[in-house]
Amino acid sequence: MKILVIDGPNINMLGVREPEIYGRDTYEDLVDMTRAKAREISAKNYEEGKDMVKVNFIQSNHEGELVTAIQKAYGMYDGIIINPAAYTHTSIAILDALKAVGIPAVEVHISDVSSREEWRQISYVREACIATVSGEGIAGYSHALEILVENIGKK
Ligand code: DQA
Repeated sequence: MKILVIDGPNINMLGVREPEIYGRDTYEDLVDMTRAKAREISAKNYEEGKDMVKVNFIQSNHEGELVTAIQKAYGMYDGIIINPAAYTHTSIAILDALKAVGIPAVEVHISDVSSREEWRQISYVREACIATVSGEGIAGYSHALEILVENIGKK
């Protein structure tokens, strides 16, 4: 089972960026923690004779690169975890890309967007996602991985 983790603009600045909102963990911590979760799920799945879970990561500050990453995932990945960051609230192109490939996707936000500004309440990508995880810090990516693996496993 191959999962692509896609992060949008400024997620590479985690740890430095507004730590009171996004915490002190870095993007590297996020990658390490999510990889560790994939190993944990794989070990459990192995015991149960189920698929191993492999995760790959892409971070970009450019909307078009995020769209291309989603397109290239077609036929290559079984699931997508996506934090489009600020593009969550603006990008119909990312929504359309997710709809185009039809790969099961989970939306993640590090901060609790529901308790922030009015304009952050809009999420274009949500329509193409099976679930949203918000306000759990970088651990939200591990949570999203559990949701995704369970959902794909049922199919
Ligand atoms: C974010 C929330 C967005 O509103 C913001 O623009 C981000 C990060 C989050 O992970 O909490 O860049 O997606």
